[in-house]
Amino acid sequence: MSPLHVTRTFPEDATDAALRADVRHGLTATPKWLPPKWFYDARGSELFEQITELPEYYPTRAEREILAARSGEIAAASGARTLIELGSGSSEKTRYLIDALPLAAYVPVDVSESALTQAAQALIADHPGLEVHALIADFTAPLTLPATPGPRLVAFLGGTIGNLLPAERTEFLTSVRALLAPGDGLLLGTDLVKDEQVLVRAYDDAAGVTAAFNKNVLAVVDRELGADFDLDAFDHVALWDAEREWIEMRLRSRTEQTVKVPALGLAVEFAAGEELRTEVSAKFRKDKVGTELAAVGFDLTHWWTDDQDRFALSLSVAR
Ligand code: SAH
Ligand code: AVI
Repeated sequence: MSPLHVTRTFPEDATDAALRADVRHGLTATPKWLPPKWFYDARGSELFEQITELPEYYPTRAEREILAARSGEIAAASGARTLIELGSGSSEKTRYLIDALPLAAYVPVDVSESALTQAAQALIADHPGLEVHALIADFTAPLTLPATPGPRLVAFLGGTIGNLLPAERTEFLTSVRALLAPGDGLLLGTDLVKDEQVLVRAYDDAAGVTAAFNKNVLAVVDRELGADFDLDAFDHVALWDAEREWIEMRLRSRTEQTVKVPALGLAVEFAAGEELRTEVSAKFRKDKVGTELAAVGFDLTHWWTDDQDRFALSLSVAR
């Protein structure tokens, strides 16, 4: 039997109900918004990988530093035989875990088929005995996991949990807990609250890669729904909301304009200066992470940060 299995529950082209519903709701709302999962077509995934190498974007380096130092401790504490990774992308940092854990199976879950299949093929080449069950799936929707040996460890790295709104976060963590048996683990990467300038620069880099990533969501809507968004007619905006402790990415219309979305029969009016919210990226403190996890049935047992206390990786046990 081949060690690579690919299962798709997320639709192949995004002309399906989910994208249509999100675009219809988001572009007819006040203020306008689009959910961040639509950034990640092949181009968006490639731009995200470029972001992770930018001098201003510290989270990937900080989390890698923690994983490099702590994967032995993580392996000893969890003993996981199946590693499930949500929003796995390139699975690049995950290699520290795969090398340290006594794994029978790795289950990467991502909406980006290109990122998922490239990552899975590279991992199999390097770990011929490992079974890889790649799920092209939306991690906010119900997941069916393959029958692989326990204990299970769910990894949710990169700070991607911060891209969920608080209510979505609770619902999501509740569904993650439901995938696990008592004693199974959750390894969670959370970016930490810090100096505003450092945060804003990480989301508004000098080379303009994050701006291109942000605008890519408009290219996805153009391609999939025949819309006529002109990417040059919008500016990238990144700002810190000190009350909610999150970065918000927006696209600001340069002029008054009407954008047509033929697949939905929509004509969307933008005033000059009007902003469309495309992402929140929440930043955390230890107390808040522990409280939110405890509320859904996890006990936080380990909390590790990088040398500069920019990012945290926590290990929790399902009660
Ligand atoms: N974990 C990697 C990638 C983070 S980027 C890292 O730490 O570097 C976020 C990843 O989550 C992308 O690969 C994106 O395609 C995926 N993603 C975003 N929303 C998703 C959703 N709702 N369901 C599944 N995957 C999602
Ligand atoms: C995937 N996620 C954790 C990234 C973040 O930092 O919120 C997405 C991103 N958006 C802009 N830059 C990176």
